[in-house]
Amino acid sequence: MGTSEAVLQAFSGAVPRPFCSGPCFSKLDIASPSRSFVRFGKRRGLRCRQFHNSSKSLQNGIGIRQFAGKSASESLRVLRCKCQHAESVSGLTAEDGKGTWFVDNTQKLNPIHDTVNGPNVLEFEELKAEKVGLLSDHLPAVGTVNNAVHKTSVTSVEDEAWEMLRESMVYYCGSPIGTIAANDPTSSSVLNYDQVFIRDFIPSGIAFLLKGEYEIVRNFILYTLQLQSWEKTMDCHSPGQGLMPASFKVRTVPLDGDDSATEEVLDPDFGEAAIGRVAPVDSGLWWIILLRAYGKCSGDLTVQERIDVQTGIKMILKLCLADGFDMFPTLLVADGPCMIDRRMGLHGHPLEIQALFYSALLCSREMLTPEDGSADIIRALNNRLVALSFHIREYYWIDMKKLNEIYRYKTEEYSYDAVNKFNIYPDQIPPWLVEWMPNKGGYLIGNLQPAHMDFRFFSLGNLWSVVSSLVTVDQSHAILDLIEAKWADLVAEMPFKICYPALEGQEWQIITGSDPKNTPWSYHNGGSWPTLLWQLTIACIKMNRPEIATRAVEIAEKRISQDKWPEYYDTKRGRFIGKQSCLYQTWSIAGYLVAKLLLADPTAARMLITEEDSELVNAFSCMISANPRRKRGPKSSQQTYIIMYSDLASTVILEMSCFYWDIETSLGCVHGI
Ligand code: GLC
Repeated sequence: MGTSEAVLQAFSGAVPRPFCSGPCFSKLDIASPSRSFVRFGKRRGLRCRQFHNSSKSLQNGIGIRQFAGKSASESLRVLRCKCQHAESVSGLTAEDGKGTWFVDNTQKLNPIHDTVNGPNVLEFEELKAEKVGLLSDHLPAVGTVNNAVHKTSVTSVEDEAWEMLRESMVYYCGSPIGTIAANDPTSSSVLNYDQVFIRDFIPSGIAFLLKGEYEIVRNFILYTLQLQSWEKTMDCHSPGQGLMPASFKVRTVPLDGDDSATEEVLDPDFGEAAIGRVAPVDSGLWWIILLRAYGKCSGDLTVQERIDVQTGIKMILKLCLADGFDMFPTLLVADGPCMIDRRMGLHGHPLEIQALFYSALLCSREMLTPEDGSADIIRALNNRLVALSFHIREYYWIDMKKLNEIYRYKTEEYSYDAVNKFNIYPDQIPPWLVEWMPNKGGYLIGNLQPAHMDFRFFSLGNLWSVVSSLVTVDQSHAILDLIEAKWADLVAEMPFKICYPALEGQEWQIITGSDPKNTPWSYHNGGSWPTLLWQLTIACIKMNRPEIATRAVEIAEKRISQDKWPEYYDTKRGRFIGKQSCLYQTWSIAGYLVAKLLLADPTAARMLITEEDSELVNAFSCMISANPRRKRGPKSSQQTYIIMYSDLASTVILEMSCFYWDIETSLGCVHGI
């Protein structure tokens, strides 16, 4: 690494910037609902200029980094910086009055907890410092490491997790805007783990929301929104405008033509630099889910009501709802579009994306303000919700009964009323599944394509289908039943398996391309990921079965801190820290914290849970109970049914054209609600 690179690294990442004394243009920029962004010369990214003495800042930057993750004194530096920051951001509002970024909502009633918001960042850190005996007059001199104080101050795994989470915070122009993926001081190869990943920040954001620290989440939402508009290309090709980056990095670079000044740049990666060049389909969907959670938890609805935020939601939806060649209501994507961001046979219609898609549609429906320009998108959204839910519940669901049906499927049925619509050959049922499927319980398969069912159990997709009500109440319970029945495989010695089982032998060679990182029972290929604890917890709370999550958290708690918060574990039972696993992985830390906080206050999980409308429940159940062999009429006789239903925000008209499956009669039963 060259000196200049070292300088950049020292400035960027998880270090607050106490010396950012110059004007921060990007703040004005971000408050503007017109979604403009500053571009300077040929360099890419959002920019924030700072004028300061470079050498002094460099010393300080390095000084802080040396102690990252280690010193109590460092926390105090963070605290001082936040103190300056609190002053510097106050009073910044949108110029034209349409956007209101820095609305002070700290005294608003919190609709989830029914209490006034908790202390702000600064107050909270002070309280915490007091609690752990770090009052300023007991402090060692700045820059020294007092290990004794540090060790005794960590009173529990949870306290340690909070400390780690705070140390992973990334600042842009003095404002906290995210958390880096991993903050491992011993690692020599960071790859892109020093970036803020959109998906990784979600549990961090939720943890901060649960603590009443809203600013970092609001900043994250608004800055990533600015990146959405960025012109992105790979070899002259541009993806859709609604795409959100997989990650971004704060870089500090010398200002063109001015040696005494630097500027901070937000540099996004939309997949054009990512390993394998995978497009992050999940980023925008998670962004929408976090936006709703922010509004619900903080009570500050001004962010979601902003014109630029509304436009951002619509851009994501437009991209997802665009017509294509596809026959299915599920979203068609390339391989590696989500948490599993390497070649793992996910291309097509992977469950995780469908669950997040459904969840984001429901969240958007709640947040979109009814106006002339939104009518079409709301109609498309409602149509898709019903179609998607029906498709997943009906065709992705598998349990003993369904497995037996597939086992006896006839194939090559050319007709509208085929039972085996996707022409699945019964020989596809893998031998492991015949043994593995419990008598009680079931799950959603990983993917469905013509003549192909991916029978692997993917945890995140199943858990989020419960959280978002993509599956029915019975199916939700059955998923939890299966988790309990298969505890030794899915939880074992570290929750939670990312998927089950692992691809082995020739299958591993063909499907992963002999990926040495994804060997059987490692990483994405059957590894165990502690971050999944938070999604498991919400699913269990929603189904009123929190004891399942409590058990899993207790297992994780036994070793996760001693193991230094690994990104993932290897082996069938999750016994080893992953071969190439990062340590101090932020979403392992945040996932654990969110699980703990929610188990302590289950009602707070409501900010992430979405329930379906009772009218739609009726429509779904009618569809599912309809006779699949009923004859399909000619196209001209297809009817459009109008289903009226209302939610808190508005009454909408749902136009239900009948799709490729036979649902005319079933819908008839809800006609005219
Ligand atoms: C790996 C994971 C991905 C995660 C990233 C940062 O690439 O597969 O899901 O976002 O690391 O932690």
